Formats: sequence, structure tokens, C-alpha cells
Amino acid sequence: MNRKNHFNRREFLKRGSALIAAGWLPLSLVEVAFGKTQAESFTFAYISDSHLTHIKGNNFVRNWDRGLTRAIAEANLLTPRPDFILYGGDIAQLGTPEEIDHGLDLLGALRGDVHYVMGEHDYYLDLGEHWRKRIGPDHYSFDHKGVHFVVLNSILTHDDWIHKKWDSPMHRMKEMARLDNPQGSPFLVGDPQREWLRKDLEKISKDTPLVVVSHSPLQKIYKGWNFWTDDAEQIQAMLKPFDKVTVLYGHVHQIQYNQIDNISFHSVMATAWPWPYPSTFAQEASYMPKLTVEINRADPFFERDGTGWQFINMHTGDVDVHDALPDNRNRVVAFDEKKGHPVDARYQAEANRIPPMKHF
Ligand SMILES: [Fe+2]
Ligand SMILES: [Fe+2]
Repeated sequence: MNRKNHFNRREFLKRGSALIAAGWLPLSLVEVAFGKTQAESFTFAYISDSHLTHIKGNNFVRNWDRGLTRAIAEANLLTPRPDFILYGGDIAQLGTPEEIDHGLDLLGALRGDVHYVMGEHDYYLDLGEHWRKRIGPDHYSFDHKGVHFVVLNSILTHDDWIHKKWDSPMHRMKEMARLDNPQGSPFLVGDPQREWLRKDLEKISKDTPLVVVSHSPLQKIYKGWNFWTDDAEQIQAMLKPFDKVTVLYGHVHQIQYNQIDNISFHSVMATAWPWPYPSTFAQEASYMPKLTVEINRADPFFERDGTGWQFINMHTGDVDVHDALPDNRNRVVAFDEKKGHPVDARYQAEANRIPPMKHF
């Protein structure tokens, strides 16, 4: 870490920005991969899960508007400027054009280019039609300063569920929005998109750092709440030949991190509300990543608690996450070279942890 970057990071954290993930790349790996002589570093911001909810006319649920508005304001204050912003999905609560348009109006205040991810709350009313019309394709890739970014739509599902005889498209939307719903259906990336991904990755050299962005986790955590992507293992197998892979996802509204082989997984927090951990709430078997140390749950009298922002240091393809939680102790999850996986640097010692709530 050079002094300039260190200063920038401190400066960044001092500003107390909302829901931001940022990174810099020191460039030894990039130099090797591309023979570049000049080191390039960059940051990016990450905002996710705003769930803007339309009431009537021009009225929207104010708390959710506030979470997104704060994230945008803080992103605009970042120094240095992030190269781009990722929006991680679930702009809308029930996928209506009013909600998506309102979200894009607010996000229009962001300084910089935004890359969008499709969330299930944006999709299941009209199967993503309005979102795609306003925003563009729901899966794509781009290269930035030696890093290959892939954005996937991971919230698709089986055709027979999508085209069931629903009372209305809103009925379908609400069934998919519910937790613990036996009428729901598991998320999928699906065959056509996996084939697209295979072709996309074919042209990328295996030592190029890869960042894969999805809405649902590309790992299986808890099926009842769709913290789950049914073809996750198939995607992981496609990412396995690469030296360094990072998967970033929203949807779970909580801190999770994991390491599966060469892949580091990190969730980003929501601007709307925090979900409890399935392992503490559902009283059923879940596959919460072993490495995740659960945070204490939100204070109901503080509307932004349990939401927060992330600072991500992309160091030679590994990712260190600094989670800033307004009313919980901040966390640092750093890649430990010796252990070969991310480690919760501050809370790793049992005695130092705030015990999470066991029921709600
Ligand atoms: Fe969400
Ligand atoms: Fe979601």
C-alpha cells in the first residue's frame, strides 16, 4: 500500500460514506498479465437494494428513499472520484414502472457511469421489460484497467413457474417477494446465460483478475429465503480456472463472506433494511458461510441501523472489506494469505464478538 492510497482510504472512511465499496488495484498482477509498465489504481462505489416503494401519486415510502438518497450523496462526495458505480439490484419493491422510474430519477444525481444489476423485485412484475427498456441488457461484461467485470442476471427461474396461471402479473411478483413461501421458486442463472458466460470467459486469460457481480449469491445459503442460486455450482466451476475471482452480491441485506476454492464471496449491504441471519431466525438448517461472523441485529429505533457501507480493497485480485455500520462496531474482513481465505480481522477472536440475537 503506498502512502497516497493509504491517505485516500483514510480520507474515504473519514467521510463516513453510505453503502460504498471501493477498491484499488496495485498492479503487479496486472503488469504481469498485460505487460503494462504503468501502475493504474482505481476505486468503484457500490449501492444496492433500495426497494423504493410506491404509495400513490408522487408518494413513496420515505425511509427507503432516504437510504438511497444518502448513498448517492455520499458517493458524490468521494475523493478520489470512483471510476464508476455499481447498482446491485432491487431498485423497486414491486417492480412497477413508477418505482423503477423513481429510482432512476434519484440515481440520475450520481456523478459517474452506473452499471446496473437486475434484482427479483425489479423483474417479476413484467419479466424485466420496463427495467430493460430504461436501463439496457441484464447481463454483460466490461474490462476496466486490467480487471474483467461480469454482470449476471441471477434471479431468473424455471419457465413453468413464470408462466403458471397467475391471477395477475402482480400476483406473481408478490409470490416471489415473500420469504418462506412454498409457492416460490429457486433462482437460476439458466442455460442460455451460462452459455453466454462460457463464451465471454473463453477470451479472458486465466491470470486476469475477475470480478463477477450478481444479485442473489452465486453460492447456496438458505433456500427458504432464496439466499440461493440453483445453478451456483455450475457457475463456480466456470470460474475455477481463473487465478483470482471475486463475487459481489446484494439481495441478502446483511454481511456475509466466504471462500470456495479460488473464489472470494462478499455481500454488500442494503440501503433499505437489514434481514436477520437465517441461522438465527428460521431455526432450520442453513448454509451460512462458516467464515461469516454474524453482526448484532438492528436497533429498531435507529432507521439506518443494520444498513451501512463497504469499502473494498482489491489487492492483487483478493478483496478486503471494511464494513462501516452506523450503530454496530465496524468490521474488517481481510484476505489472509496464509489461511487462503478471508478472515474477520476484528471479530475473529470469540471473546471480542458481540453475540448475535438468537430470535426475533
Ligand atoms: Fe433486496
Ligand atoms: Fe433481492
